[in-house]
Amino acid sequence: MLRRQAAAARRRGETTMRTLGIIGSGNIGAAIARLAVAAGMDVVIANSRGPQSLDSLVAELGPLATAGTSDEAAQAGEVVVLSIPLRAHPDVPADLLADKVVLDTTNYYPSRDGRIAALDAGELTTSELVQRHFADSALVKAFTNILAHHIPQLARPTGAADRSALPLAGDDAAAKATAAALLDRLGFDTVDAGSLADSWRFEPESAAYTRLYLADPSTPDEQLLQAPAGPRSSAEVLQALRSAERVDVAARVF
Ligand SMILES: NC(=O)c1ccc[n+]([C@@H]2O[C@H](COP(=O)([O-])OP(=O)(O)OC[C@H]3O[C@@H](n4cnc5c(N)ncnc54)[C@H](OP(=O)(O)O)[C@@H]3O)[C@@H](O)[C@H]2O)c1
Repeated sequence: MLRRQAAAARRRGETTMRTLGIIGSGNIGAAIARLAVAAGMDVVIANSRGPQSLDSLVAELGPLATAGTSDEAAQAGEVVVLSIPLRAHPDVPADLLADKVVLDTTNYYPSRDGRIAALDAGELTTSELVQRHFADSALVKAFTNILAHHIPQLARPTGAADRSALPLAGDDAAAKATAAALLDRLGFDTVDAGSLADSWRFEPESAAYTRLYLADPSTPDEQLLQAPAGPRSSAEVLQALRSAERVDVAARVF
């Protein structure tokens, strides 16, 4: 019954978003969790090692946060953030996320994930691959084109003059509306980057990937992890998406 109500609300683009489930407590999952508790949301966060390994993160996040299993994080929210290495996504049972809006933060790094033929051949985007596994979920690709340490630097309240926009891609319009409402609450405007098939426009090495948010666009690669962020408006993000050319994923070495 609850699932049917949630699915109906999602089709209408509505969400109460009291609780956010987060699977993956690393750089991106933890950064999103910090924004969520700052926005007054409850968070249930999980990793692969189990809730006891999350004591210090949950203590830092405060009373709105709870550590759980992946099952508990998946059940906690109408929207669940999936922020794990791409190679690990088949380890998360698809049933866990059935009927959920899944915010997919995964990128394909062959050096970490191994070579995936369908991606190297350009037959699928990364998020199409993940959507195939979570066939009964509505996947929305988000937070994939911003460095983790830039997330807190760029989050701003709704309407702030220097607010940044992040692209979203997905095949379910209502799920994208839900994701956009969530990102607004977390501190970002959003730009609709189209379907999951279109999401190569903000995959690694594309014009709308992480370099877009550098304060100094000439920052050398080896300094990226220390480099400060600069705000990017919806118009700038849209321009980057439009100018993107599809990267030859098979040539990617990192
Ligand atoms: N870092 C960035 O700046 C950045 C930017 C954009 C997108 N991304 C993408 O976002 C995703 C997460 O990146 P990250 O940097 O946050 O990674 P990370 O720091 O390595 O964290 C990965 C998290 O996933 C968890 N995990 C792995 N397998 C799992 C499983 N089967 N079930 C539940 N949890 C599992 C890990 O748990 P344990 O630690 O317990 O193993 C860890 O908490 C990746 O796909 C990455 O490519 C990263």
